[in-house]
Amino acid sequence: MQVRLKAIRWEAEDILSFILEPLGGGLMLPFDPGAHIDVHLAPGLTRSYSLVNDPAVRGHYEIAVHLSPTSRGGSRHIHERWRAGDIVEISAPKNNFPMVEDAVHTVLIAGGIGVTPMLPMIARLSRLKRSWELHYVAATPERAAYVQHLEGYDGVTVAFDGVPGGQRLDLKAISDAAPEGAHLYCCGPTGMLDAFVAVNAGKPKDHVHIEYFSAETEVATEGGYTLELARSGKTVEVAEGETMLDALLAAGVDIGFACGEGVCGTCEVKILEGIADHRDHFLSDEDKAANTSIMVCCSGVKSPRMVLDI
Ligand code: FES
Repeated sequence: MQVRLKAIRWEAEDILSFILEPLGGGLMLPFDPGAHIDVHLAPGLTRSYSLVNDPAVRGHYEIAVHLSPTSRGGSRHIHERWRAGDIVEISAPKNNFPMVEDAVHTVLIAGGIGVTPMLPMIARLSRLKRSWELHYVAATPERAAYVQHLEGYDGVTVAFDGVPGGQRLDLKAISDAAPEGAHLYCCGPTGMLDAFVAVNAGKPKDHVHIEYFSAETEVATEGGYTLELARSGKTVEVAEGETMLDALLAAGVDIGFACGEGVCGTCEVKILEGIADHRDHFLSDEDKAANTSIMVCCSGVKSPRMVLDI
């Protein structure tokens, strides 16, 4: 859908927030905390951003974009080109990071721009008068977005790990202190998420939730296999040096993708035959073992051929 970029606001060093409104007035589609939208920036350039605003506020969406020093085009495009008044194209909200609203207690852990999906969660939990806490770490106070907004809540701890005498979050202590039955959520850099998963290994899997906003994904470019597309009847060779997605796009296959690094889930395709070499951070270990779907942006194929349901 097309929406109007109503306003741009500075939130922190290299972080801007954007208010998006319906073109003809009215309400935006409803969303639940943890949801994101895909933003279509240019042909072949789509990025996913968490919705930041309170889901009860239906007149606009807010997203926040960190200008990544290693930007592959997405955040740079937005920071440099977007102007208030522009019309931009977005998807309907999708939710890969849904929140259990009736947990006995909710522990939210955010690193840097990973705070964004936590904000609607806090709004919802506060409205429902649920028990929750947020641990938010940023490099420096200058790089910490939404701190002022969070000051209005109890249960928020903000730490800075890039200043003299600063400290990282003690994820183990946070996990140990969580009451039985608590649900824990983490969004942040890959290292933080890996540590979070490790310290919570003993908790029920469905109580531990993570969302990657980017990842150091080792994309599969070994090639040397054939893709058969069951619905269209096409055959696509994937050569050494290219990803499955590269080969599919070059063959004119219309396939949706966004992050390109296995975190958003947009490019998921059903496998009919063949063995996947999963490289993504989206599918669970169980899903990967089941070998029923594959993220074509980053994963490869271990068998000589794979049949896809496209
Ligand atoms: S495009 Fe995001 S997981 Fe493939």
